[in-house]
Amino acid sequence: MIQEEIARWAAVGPYYAMFPMDFAFEVIEKYTQPGDRILDPFVGRGSSIYAAAAKERTGCGIEINPVGWVYSSVKLRPVTQGRVLKRLREIGYAAKRIDIGRANLPTFFEWAYAPDVLRFLLASRDILRWRDSKVDRTLMAFILIHLHGKRLGSLSNQMRDSKSMAPDYAVRWWRKREMRPPDIDPVAFLEQRIERRYKKGTPDLEGEVLLGDSVQLLNSNRRRRAFTLPFDLLFTSPPYYGVTNYHYDQWLRLWMLGHGPTPRWRGGRWQRKFQSRSDYLELLADVFGGAAPRMRDNAIVIVRTDAREFTHSATVKALWTAFPNKNLREEPRPLKRKTQTALYGDTSKKPGEVDIIMTPR
Ligand SMILES: C[S@@+](CC[C@H](N)C(=O)[O-])C[C@H]1O[C@@H](n2cnc3c(N)ncnc32)[C@H](O)[C@@H]1O
Repeated sequence: MIQEEIARWAAVGPYYAMFPMDFAFEVIEKYTQPGDRILDPFVGRGSSIYAAAAKERTGCGIEINPVGWVYSSVKLRPVTQGRVLKRLREIGYAAKRIDIGRANLPTFFEWAYAPDVLRFLLASRDILRWRDSKVDRTLMAFILIHLHGKRLGSLSNQMRDSKSMAPDYAVRWWRKREMRPPDIDPVAFLEQRIERRYKKGTPDLEGEVLLGDSVQLLNSNRRRRAFTLPFDLLFTSPPYYGVTNYHYDQWLRLWMLGHGPTPRWRGGRWQRKFQSRSDYLELLADVFGGAAPRMRDNAIVIVRTDAREFTHSATVKALWTAFPNKNLREEPRPLKRKTQTALYGDTSKKPGEVDIIMTPR
């Protein structure tokens, strides 16, 4: 696949705290050979395994958040343009029969979306079987990408694309500016975006992304095809301690995937923002400990993480425990450009990131 085409699909999914694609390609080319197998237990929107697969390696990712899972699995193997467009039109047709009133949604939704758009979203939410059908998953990925963002550049009223807004705040903001949701035709809007994305070709790449908790999947004895052969590279970036909550911050996209219509701190232990240091240490120990026996003896481990004290020391500790016979070195990665949160007024100093590199002795 040509570089431009890779970049077009690699960008699937506004999702923050992700690897820059260049970094993913750099690591894959420097530390692996064609045919090698790469494991990423915190795969997010899938940059690591996408770079691996685009360079003739095989990637296996695990992601607990369905938004990240939809992006990363579709990015490897979207269905053809014809199939996704056909499904889009079917949903557009079904949307005409949707009664918005029956959905009983909070006020936020009528400020965020014009009636035709909302009907289309409700129909997609009801009809698309994104877990089981590749066609439905591909269409859902396009809907999630464009679900919110700039007014007229997305399906919504003015919003950020990276993070869902708090509903009360958003409504106050729109009301004050008398900013009504844009009256767009969702099918025509998405058709255009889909056609643009497919213009440079359709990836069909080796690899797999599992939806679930790495703690359970890596530590269970159940036989899985994805884990039959050992891995050559563990390449990942775990959640940073106390920094973000991927479930809360993506509440609107999660609503599209069947969750409730208001932001919630979800019950699952790893779905909360990490407030407990012992929970965080346990997560890293269980994931790296579960990955270790699935790696070749001479495997390499590359972990990009937050340079802040606790996240950094917890990660080093968990890695030493899981891989006691490897050498460990670090490469600091100070932040070069403004982060997305800095663009929205967050001026707190961030110490940047660090790459932890473990090689065989
Ligand atoms: C720092 S992000 C990874 C970003 C990724 N490198 C990218 O480029 O998109 C960490 C990811 O780990 C996921 N995660 C957190 N706990 C997990 C768990 N127990 N099992 C699987 N994934 C988990 C989060 O949902 C989040 O997407």
